[in-house]
Amino acid sequence: MKLIVGNLKMYFDGSEIVNYLNCVKFNDNVIILPSSIHIPYFLNKGFNVGVQNIGLFNVTGEISALQVKNLGVSYVLLGHSERRNIENNGYVNLKVKESLENGLNVILCVGESLDERNNNLTKDVIKRQLDECLNGIDESVIIAYEPVWAIGTGIVPSNDEISDIVCFIKNLYPYRVLYGGSVNYNNIAELEKCNVLDGYLIGKSSSIISDFNGIIDCVYKK
Ligand code: PGA
Repeated sequence: MKLIVGNLKMYFDGSEIVNYLNCVKFNDNVIILPSSIHIPYFLNKGFNVGVQNIGLFNVTGEISALQVKNLGVSYVLLGHSERRNIENNGYVNLKVKESLENGLNVILCVGESLDERNNNLTKDVIKRQLDECLNGIDESVIIAYEPVWAIGTGIVPSNDEISDIVCFIKNLYPYRVLYGGSVNYNNIAELEKCNVLDGYLIGKSSSIISDFNGIIDCVYKK
């Protein structure tokens, strides 16, 4: 079964959550990444939950992998492009190790910037991200291919482009690969024709109940 991961970032201020919890048509393959302070609401409703990040050191304001695991959360998103300006591959590698050691399922984001794409560096960049972030790790992770230029822009690569990169990734690391970057209710049917994908990582559209439910219906063919 494909995975649908909803990255809620900081979209909800608080009051919208009750409606969201009551209306989203989740199942075991839908994983929600809420703001950490909202996680207990989602757990109590029976959602499969992940965190958007973990902290490595015992410093103020961070959340550890062990705390996350002990709360009943099973997934962690690492290497998201919105964090990569403060976290290099080596740092992400430490977080992947720490997460796996604490029994969390890792969703590791990789993807090229527009500049890198324009300079034909996409595969070099992705290989380096994977090799460095997964250095010394034998356990499998879930990889999310998210071209940085597709995140929040409404622009999505063609299915051929996605297939090319996803196959490239799977040849290097035989793991499940999700696509992320401007997935929405209007393009999900087309993306579903891409038969190498194991699911989706969805930002903005996962915060809009009708869009997210439409995506869930489309992927699970209800
Ligand atoms: P988007 O975000 O779906 O809003 O493009 C994806 C992400 O940042 O993971």
